[in-house]
Amino acid sequence: MNPKTILIGNDHGGYDLVPHILKLLDEKGVSAKHVGSFSGEIVRYPYYAAKVAGAVSRGEIERGILICSTGIGMSIIANRFTGVRASLCTSTYMGKMTRAHNNSNLLCLGGRITGYLEALDILETWLATPYEGGRHDISLGLIAEAEKVLCNPGGWTPEEPPR
Ligand code: RB5
Repeated sequence: MNPKTILIGNDHGGYDLVPHILKLLDEKGVSAKHVGSFSGEIVRYPYYAAKVAGAVSRGEIERGILICSTGIGMSIIANRFTGVRASLCTSTYMGKMTRAHNNSNLLCLGGRITGYLEALDILETWLATPYEGGRHDISLGLIAEAEKVLCNPGGWTPEEPPR
């Protein structure tokens, strides 16, 4: 897969936002791939988080997007993957700052929290804002150091159960 491809995962709470996200990325010429879920049927968000956060963690892609009802569950599970810096953003300012200071590589959105226009604005800003580096490298280095002790680099690749 092209490492620049943005993988998008969601549960039932994030499903309605996905078409808006795909449209924006298409208009911007950004390669994107939706890995599910593909309906409003109730599913378990950790499976979809594992697909996207796992790909980021393994270095297969540079960035991903995860959407559930609040964005909280997705951010909790995604941040357990080594090398993933998942950011739950509810404002454009958060989208900007998490790129500039945290070098965020995974954007989490709340499909039932953030309206789609605001969500698209957050995404555009998150895509466009570069990491500042400098003093922020110190904190990111500490996170990487903590990961060596706290995270299993083998990752987690669960199979989605049959419906
Ligand atoms: C599903 O009902 C909901 O719990 C999920 O979408 C997410 O918001 C969890 O954090």
